[in-house]
Amino acid sequence: MADLLNSAYDLVLSTFRWGVIKVLAIGPVPQHIAFIMDGNRRYARQRSMAIKEGHTNGFQALEKVVDVCLKLGVKCVTVFAFSIENFKRSEEEVAALMELAETKLLDFTKATLHRDGVRVNVLGRMEMLPESVQKSFRISQEMTKDNFKHVLNFCMPYTSQDEITTAVQSAVQEKVCARVTEGDIERYLMTTLGGSPPLNILIRSGGAKRLSDFLMWQASENVQLHFIPTYWPDIGFWDLFPIIMDYQTKVWSRQEGKCGSKRWASVGFECVALIVIVTLFASLTRWRI
Ligand code: FPP
Repeated sequence: MADLLNSAYDLVLSTFRWGVIKVLAIGPVPQHIAFIMDGNRRYARQRSMAIKEGHTNGFQALEKVVDVCLKLGVKCVTVFAFSIENFKRSEEEVAALMELAETKLLDFTKATLHRDGVRVNVLGRMEMLPESVQKSFRISQEMTKDNFKHVLNFCMPYTSQDEITTAVQSAVQEKVCARVTEGDIERYLMTTLGGSPPLNILIRSGGAKRLSDFLMWQASENVQLHFIPTYWPDIGFWDLFPIIMDYQTKVWSRQEGKCGSKRWASVGFECVALIVIVTLFASLTRWRI
């Protein structure tokens, strides 16, 4: 009986979440969100788990977050999966991350990403990875190369300084003697080459307030930075909800004056829809608000 009640409650809760996502999707949706997935080890230690388990749960969280982003209509998601600096971690941890990378990204691609029209790009120094991981990444990329609905940039092994240096080298080679401009460098960034739109939001989980050499060029202009305390494996829709609302509020306030009536129609409709959904949820679950 308790199991039945729990499943019924889960069903109501996921329907509620689905409704809220649909309402948010009415408003302006960010085109590109990036994540620094921090806190896997602290999550594992807190629960007396092996570090590998923390990373495994981190990958499951990544799947959930990508699912929410696709449902919202976000065009591009970029995740920091492994920094070049992470090779300095213990052999055991690096091996565990490589094993996860080899199996999980391909499984996710086959099970979900390809079906949902997501193109998978692996950004970074692929040649530093074991051959078996490179092979698995190449299969994911090849399988999804003709998908144009969404993009998932899986940064591994990546640092922003390496990306910018490579972009400058390519721009200099192209220009030979002419002056290299910011635009030239931008054209050669890994994210640009992979067809990503400009970054709108960068979210770091785990409480630290720094970029750790991730998307430093892309985050330098018109990007909302959010540092949330949640450890990455615990991240869920309700961590993203206030961030998306904040983005929408900022877009709407920028639009003020430009297209006032359209903006208010959108805000009004979204508010009414949210109230209806919350009321329905409250009455279904006898939740008193
Ligand atoms: C940072 O948290 C996280 C990483 C170095 C790896 C992130 C990996 C995943 C989310 C799994 C998917 C990725 C691969 C490669 C398959 P941390 O380990 O530094 O945690 P801490 O801040 O608590 O020490």
